[in-house]
Amino acid sequence: MKVYITRKIPQKAIEYLKENNISFSLYKKDRPIPRKELLKNIKNVDAVLSLLTDKIDAKVIDAMNKCKVIANFAVGYDNIDVKYAKTKNIIVTNTPEVLTDSTADLTMALVLTCARRLPEAEEFLRAGKYTHWKPDLLLGVELKDKVFGVIGAGRIGKAVAIRAKSFGCKIIYFSHSRNSFLERKTNAQKVSLNFLLKSSNFVSIHLPSTKKTFHLIDKERLSLMKRSSILINTARGEIIDEKELIKTLKAKRILAAGLDVFENELNINPELLKLENVVLLPHIGSATQKARTNMAMIAVKNIVAVLSGKKTITPVS
Ligand code: DGY
Repeated sequence: MKVYITRKIPQKAIEYLKENNISFSLYKKDRPIPRKELLKNIKNVDAVLSLLTDKIDAKVIDAMNKCKVIANFAVGYDNIDVKYAKTKNIIVTNTPEVLTDSTADLTMALVLTCARRLPEAEEFLRAGKYTHWKPDLLLGVELKDKVFGVIGAGRIGKAVAIRAKSFGCKIIYFSHSRNSFLERKTNAQKVSLNFLLKSSNFVSIHLPSTKKTFHLIDKERLSLMKRSSILINTARGEIIDEKELIKTLKAKRILAAGLDVFENELNINPELLKLENVVLLPHIGSATQKARTNMAMIAVKNIVAVLSGKKTITPVS
């Protein structure tokens, strides 16, 4: 049995493959694997451990002669043509649960960073401008009693809502189905997307990237948001029409945005980099030792399970 791993992953996961007598090869360079290289290396392997930076489309899947499982090192799997993989009897797996807390923590970090103007404040101090305390220096907004709108009430949305509730926010959420656990835990109210955008002081996106969610937050929806509101995205860049968000931020139509994800992550829109009312992070939602190690472990455990004919741990449907 042979596995191809498209990037260096935590050692614990490599040891697990060795313990289970699975041989593997991996792309050793510290950058996304070039497509040509990917197509060449996946030909005769039984499993592929992929990253969200690898586009596993029909052409790549066709090149997999004997692959039984594609284990994505991410909870999101929009980089994989899952439907097509299914027609080829290839199981696709992801890494749910283990990155929920790290991503929810980072979401709150972005909320607070935007609300309290932390980058601006730090830059001010480093530039030697802090000479004395003053009553109106870098005033921000508080979370208590504010309306916090959560778009998507899955695992991460729920974890964010619980955190925001503990800061004293009133939670409203948009989701296709009711989440009674969330309602019980946070007194959250399920509302329409437009109502959420109109009424929230903070809006946080926690949806997968699909055809349906592409540019869900478009020009019209951005225009519904309060001038004083803060928009956070730690899910996927494609959910917001980034060009429209840039226009909105330029016109100061909302207070700020905090983004961990972008429409084109390998080539971030330079206009975003020029804006002061946006906090930008390099997709680090799950970037804790614990989460990344556990993500790698779930991926290899899925591979070993499939290759040994056992039940897949976290297949995507
Ligand atoms: C995911 O898992 O989908 C995140 O975006 C990266 O950890």
